[in-house]
Amino acid sequence: MNNKKKIFLSVLPATVAATIISMSTGSMAADSDPIKVGVMLPFSGVYAGLGESTRNGLKQAIKEQGNNIAGRPVEFIEMDTEAKPARAPEITSSLVDNQQADFVIGPVHSGVAMGMIKSIKGKDSIMIIPNAGANAATGAFCQPNVFRTSFSSWQTAFPMGKEAYDMGYKKIVTMSWNYGFGKESLEAFNESFTKAGGEVIKEMLVPFPKTEFQSYLTEIASINPDAVFVFFAGGGAVKFVKDYDAMGLKGKIPLLGSGFLTEGTTTAQGPAAEEVITTLHYADALDIPKNKHFRQDYETLYGKPADLFAVQGYDAGQLIAQAVTATQGNTSDKAALIEQMEQLEIDSPRGAFHFSKSHNPIQTIYLRKVVDGQNTVVKVAHENLEDPARGCRL
Ligand code: BEZ
Repeated sequence: MNNKKKIFLSVLPATVAATIISMSTGSMAADSDPIKVGVMLPFSGVYAGLGESTRNGLKQAIKEQGNNIAGRPVEFIEMDTEAKPARAPEITSSLVDNQQADFVIGPVHSGVAMGMIKSIKGKDSIMIIPNAGANAATGAFCQPNVFRTSFSSWQTAFPMGKEAYDMGYKKIVTMSWNYGFGKESLEAFNESFTKAGGEVIKEMLVPFPKTEFQSYLTEIASINPDAVFVFFAGGGAVKFVKDYDAMGLKGKIPLLGSGFLTEGTTTAQGPAAEEVITTLHYADALDIPKNKHFRQDYETLYGKPADLFAVQGYDAGQLIAQAVTATQGNTSDKAALIEQMEQLEIDSPRGAFHFSKSHNPIQTIYLRKVVDGQNTVVKVAHENLEDPARGCRL
């Protein structure tokens, strides 16, 4: 028995463990029961658009398999998190303990992710995070049965600090929603910006999910920094970028961000988004054949352009398909599934990636600029960036 299996079984009573061992070495590969996939995403609230794109991408990947992996149909059980951390324990427990989901895909919001991880720790379901960036998810709270197809907070903001300094900005104001992911993004930006020689002269935190930005923007105008770096996403990103323009700051104080500021939002933001510069592990216009095919198919299926959230959901679906194919349909032996997942290379629209020891993608971060409503690639900001996974002991 390998070490991973020992970790899983060590938390179970001996009789249950014995049953799992016999199931995993028995005839489960021939099982034709559905593979149960719990989906915990925000389908309402400020992150509703992100949840919808993630679900679309996930289903696109499973559809490519004919909704059947290694002879087994796929059953989705969907739950709306509303991006509310308080809902995480109850929903996770319902999917893991009552429904006995093989996989739980979610969430979008970092606070929800931390609640889910606490509830899924030591359980016989595998969690795949298709967005939330909380560093601890693949850092201090990393778990054998938790994987991420998205990013850590650190990965998306750290490269922008040096880029901003190299663009000639020395004094910057930073701003985000006041919760884990936003604060970690500002910290990561600060880390590289100050190391390069810059100074963050003011940090502004807005209560989540508030979108009244006028008073903050008035203060930014009076400070008049060289540039502004922010994290906002979804409906908040649309409102922020439009307000920035409407308050007359666009064209005077350059707006920078982690890429969520312009992901899936540029149509709604219109001309206000033009020239906004961000860093992210994806860009609409990425010149990779896989990306072109993915975007074409997504548009045909859903009648609108794909975005990063769709890519990350798609890769969660690809991860399930590849891992379950490798175990010939056996999902009972979770340790064997995890072992496969750790070794896989995912042929993502963002470019192929594999997982670090802490189960986070090692991936290239791009410097991007919005041109004609598209996130275009300016240059590679950091090739194959691996999160430091501070505190993870996997
Ligand atoms: C987060 O809470 O981790 C998050 C939410 C939206 C976009 C990116 C990250």
